[in-house]
Amino acid sequence: MLAIIGGSGLTQLSNLDVLERRVIRTPYGEPSGILSFGCISGRDVLFLPRHGYGHSIPPHRVNYRANIWALKECGVRRVVSVASVGGIRAGLNPGDIVIPHQIMDYTWGRKNTYFNGNDALVTHVDFTHPYDENLRRQLVLSATTAGIPIQDGGVYAATQGPRLETAAEIDRFERDGAAVVGMTGMPEAVLARELELAYAALNPVANHAAGRGESAGKIHFEHLGEILQEAMSRVRMIIEGVIHLV
Ligand code: HPA
Repeated sequence: MLAIIGGSGLTQLSNLDVLERRVIRTPYGEPSGILSFGCISGRDVLFLPRHGYGHSIPPHRVNYRANIWALKECGVRRVVSVASVGGIRAGLNPGDIVIPHQIMDYTWGRKNTYFNGNDALVTHVDFTHPYDENLRRQLVLSATTAGIPIQDGGVYAATQGPRLETAAEIDRFERDGAAVVGMTGMPEAVLARELELAYAALNPVANHAAGRGESAGKIHFEHLGEILQEAMSRVRMIIEGVIHLV
């Protein structure tokens, strides 16, 4: 089964016919919300809003371990993460959709592994290619088939939040090779890898990152709604298409 983890701007999947909502408890605590089981174009899909249904859980307080564990327990094999980002790479504009291929992790203090060594052997999971390449290709194919332009590839810089970055931090991320910046990509991606779930991301650009474009002086986060909503309708179309590609 395919799961969608929705971020800001995608707290519901309007094309999902919900058949059942289930409360799941895990050894790591409670996921961000009730899991919605449903169908899109006749295929089973599970939806989980990363920040809770009222968008009340900030990025650094999301229980990523409970979320990914709950998906695994429900029989999920593939996870598409939807998470809005700030655009760093020149030419990336609000409304663009990036399907990243690499991650740099600048977060700290998050519970970022299931392998704490207490009751299992020390495990170093391979994370050379953090996103599942098959699922990435399926997302790209779904978008191109639907005629939706996307950016295929890019390095996602994961920051701690909840504050936005300084312009100097964004300059550093760019020197490090980052194309986009967001607050939720890690440890979500590595936890999915630890549980052997195929994981890939759709990252709609909500704003130019700090110090760039219209964010040169300040990021007007409160104005981002409209652009993001329009991008999310394209994100939904990409998801609809990917469901049939297994
Ligand atoms: N920085 C970090 N996370 C974000 C941004 C940003 O500029 N925009 C949307 N999520």
